[in-house]
Amino acid sequence: MGTDFGICIQNIKKKIILNDQLYGFDTERSELLQIVKKTIDYGESDSVIVLGPRGCGKSVLIESVIKELLPDSHTLVMLNGLIHTDDNLALKSIIQQLQIKNLDGAYVEGSYADNICFLLESFRAGNKMASKSIIMVLDKFDMFCSHTNQTLLYNLFDAVQSQQNPLSIIGVSSRIDVIELLEKRVKSRFSHNILMIKPPSEPHELLGRLKCLLQLSKDCKIESDVRKNWNNNINLLISDPQLQDLMNDLLKLSNNNTKLNMLVFMALSNLSKDKMLMVENLICSFNSLYKQDLTLVNLLGLSVLELCLMISICHHSEIYNKEPFNFEMIYARYCKFASRNSSLLVTKRQVIIKAFERISIMELIQPVTAIENKNILKEYRLYKSSVNLDKMKAASNLYYRLPPVILQWIDSNII
Ligand SMILES: Nc1ncnc2c1ncn2[C@@H]1O[C@H](COP(=O)(O)OP(=O)(O)OP(=O)(O)O)[C@@H](O)[C@H]1O
Ligand SMILES: [Mg+2]
Repeated sequence: MGTDFGICIQNIKKKIILNDQLYGFDTERSELLQIVKKTIDYGESDSVIVLGPRGCGKSVLIESVIKELLPDSHTLVMLNGLIHTDDNLALKSIIQQLQIKNLDGAYVEGSYADNICFLLESFRAGNKMASKSIIMVLDKFDMFCSHTNQTLLYNLFDAVQSQQNPLSIIGVSSRIDVIELLEKRVKSRFSHNILMIKPPSEPHELLGRLKCLLQLSKDCKIESDVRKNWNNNINLLISDPQLQDLMNDLLKLSNNNTKLNMLVFMALSNLSKDKMLMVENLICSFNSLYKQDLTLVNLLGLSVLELCLMISICHHSEIYNKEPFNFEMIYARYCKFASRNSSLLVTKRQVIIKAFERISIMELIQPVTAIENKNILKEYRLYKSSVNLDKMKAASNLYYRLPPVILQWIDSNII
C-alpha cells in the first residue's frame, strides 16, 4: 500500500482556489511597496500606473502589497472603470469608501460639484503627518480617461502633486498607450512612475510557477515524511523532459496563469489518493482541456432542436452544392421532416427562430455579408455553414440519447 497523498492533493487544490499567493515579480512588488510605504510612513503622496497584458497578475500583485500593510495604517479605496463609468459614480463611491460625512444612510447627498468641493476640501484639511493615508486603486484606469474632461483624474493627481492629505494613487491598466490618453494638464501632474508587469515567456518560467504551485511548504499541517515524499516526487516530475514540452505547448496557447491552474486542478481531481502526480496525468488533462475539437464540443452542447436545424443545414448545403441559405429554407426543410416523423419535434416558429439565432451566435453558421442589411428581414439573411455532414455524423454518434428518427435522417437527405 502506497503513501496516502490525499491531504497533499487537498492542500494544493485549496491553494489554487484561494489564489492569493503571488509568484515572482519580486522587484515590481518591492517597488510598489516602497511607494505605498512612503505615503503611509512619511505622508508623501505619489502616483503609479501598473501596466501589463490581461491576466498577467496585476491584481494579485496589488493585493499582495496591500496585504502586507497594517490594516489600521491606511484607508483603501477601490474603483473600477467598468463599474464607475462616470466621474459622479466614482466620486460617490470614493466618499462612501472613505466613510466621511456627507452620507445619508448608504447614499451620498449633494450634486457632483458639491461632492468634488467637499472631497477636495477634505484633502486640503488633512496634513502630512497627522492624517490617515489613503490608498486608491483605479482598476481599468484607461476607462477613467474617457470621462468628461478627466475632471476626477485631474483633481486626484493635483491633490497628489500639491502634497495635501497623504494619498497614493495606483492605476491599473492593460493598455500600453494609457499615458497618451491623459490630457496635457493631467499628464503633467502624473508622476510618470510606471511598473511594467511581464507574463512568463519561457517554458522554464512556467515550470518554476508549476513547481511553486505543487510544492508543499512547512506551514501545511501534514506529516513531515508524507510532505517530504511528495516534494521529492514533485522535484522528479519537474525535471522530466516531457513536462518541458508540455509547458512549451501551454505557452503557445496562452501565457497567463489561469490555464496552468486549471490544468493542475484537473490533473489533481482525477488522481486517486494513493497515487503520485505523474507527467501522464498532466498530459491527459491538457489533451482533454485544450486539445479538443471545439466545433464538436459546440455541436454536442446543442439542444435536439438546434441539432435538427444543423442537420437541415448540412443537407441543404450538400444538395445545393454549398450554396448560401436563409432561415426560411431551413425552416421549411425542418418542418417537412418534423411533421412526417414525430409530433414531438413540431415546434412554434418563434422557438425555431431563436434556435437558429443561437446556432449563428455560436458561429456554427456564418452570415455571407459581414454587415446586416436593414432592408432585408432577418429570416431572409443569407448564411453559410461552417460544419460539414461528416462532422454532424460524428457529433450525432456521440450525442447522448438522440432519438433514432433523427439518427436515420442524418444518413438520408430525402424527406
Ligand atoms: N505571478 C502570479 N502569481 C500567482 N498567480 C498569478 C500570477 N500571475 C497571474 N496569476 C493568476 O492569474 C490569474 C489572473 O491574474 P490577475 O487577475 O491578477 O490578472 P490581471 O493582470 O489583473 O488581469 P486583468 O487585466 O484582466 O485585470 C489569477 O487567477 C492569478 O491568480
Ligand atoms: Mg485585474
